[in-house]
Amino acid sequence: MRLLKIRAENFRNYTSLEFKPHPFLNIITGENAQGKTNLLEAIFFNFNTYSYRANSLKDIIKWQEKNTKVLAIIKEKEQQYKQSVAINQVGKKKVLIDGVENKKKIPGHSGVILFTPDDLNLIKNTPLLRRKFLDQEVGFFHPEYISYLQEYNRLLVHRNHLLRNIKINKKNSILETLVVWDEQLVNSGIKVLLTRLKILKKLVPLAVKWHRIITKNVENLEIRYLSSLKVPVPLDEKQLKIRFHQLIKEKRLEEIQRCQTMVGPHRDDLFFLINGKNAKFFGSQGQQKTIVLSLKLALVSLYTEQYHSEPILLLDDVLFELDQHRQKMLFSQIEKGMQTFITTNHFDHQLLFNANYDLYVVEKGKINISPVEYRV
Ligand SMILES: Nc1ncnc2c1ncn2[C@@H]1O[C@H](COP(=O)(O)OP(=O)(O)OP(=O)(O)O)[C@@H](O)[C@H]1O
Ligand SMILES: [Mg+2]
Repeated sequence: MRLLKIRAENFRNYTSLEFKPHPFLNIITGENAQGKTNLLEAIFFNFNTYSYRANSLKDIIKWQEKNTKVLAIIKEKEQQYKQSVAINQVGKKKVLIDGVENKKKIPGHSGVILFTPDDLNLIKNTPLLRRKFLDQEVGFFHPEYISYLQEYNRLLVHRNHLLRNIKINKKNSILETLVVWDEQLVNSGIKVLLTRLKILKKLVPLAVKWHRIITKNVENLEIRYLSSLKVPVPLDEKQLKIRFHQLIKEKRLEEIQRCQTMVGPHRDDLFFLINGKNAKFFGSQGQQKTIVLSLKLALVSLYTEQYHSEPILLLDDVLFELDQHRQKMLFSQIEKGMQTFITTNHFDHQLLFNANYDLYVVEKGKINISPVEYRV
């Protein structure tokens, strides 16, 4: 996939943005607060029709203005189309593809893989974020998963409600109803778990491979799925169901006491280990960043394999905190072909082996291409 051109009006600090990117590598430099991240956000917004960093979609409209529009010309597998996404002052969205209104376009990542500095929270923060990441990616690569998860979440709400009811009313008859809900919860929960494991089985070896490349085999990444069923996965479906039922029975009193379902994929987590040590507690900033980057590159590989087309890679402030070796290894890989946009405050020209890239300087919401003589 290639972004051939992007045009935006009143998007964040850009009054009028017009940008024809390089087909492979685009390096976007500039001082703080000039509009580098805003440019990546505009690209992301056009592809996904939502923003990954706005509380409300209206936030992306330039202050004092009433609406914004981002138009992109995209080439995918020899086909070219024009996509326009507009937001008005009440936050209403309008998507046009080749001039025809498209109401079905579902927000989700459609061909863009993004790294932002906030992604480090994936390692540092609570399990909730790791499950969110997993749910989003599994849902993308395995669309049925979205309905599995919705069903599971619906069952959880009902079951927790029932647990509260049992605690308050102390009626045995409600306990019988709970058994029926248990059965549904187990069946639905196992579907969620098995689909997650199916995607992880592909994603993890790819992330490990990318991690080895970037660290030049110095560090070894392990990614483990920690199931609240406390079983070494993979187990087969039947064994997993038996285990789930068994744990639910064991936790019955505790669950009623807390009015909460204590086991199931909504309590699972992912663990990242570097050379056998948990990266959340022992990893340096650069090591944590390398893990997230490897995961994102693994998503690129998975996307390419599934859709036979390379996604667009947006890397916001990825170089900061990575040492020269890691930066070089990263560039040596992304030079290989997919269209990439990297923002950075400082760019060292010696990081690149060939001159197949464009360098831009962003200043006060204007993008200027850097003269060729700056290059190696
Ligand atoms: N809706 C908006 N209207 C106008 N300006 C905005 C809006 N939202 C954000 N800005 C401004 O855009 C400017 C540029 O932001 P951006 O995040 O793109 O900076 P950056 O170049 O990535 O800087 P850094 O190197 O610090 O990451 C900021 O000063 C911010 O205040
Ligand atoms: Mg920025």
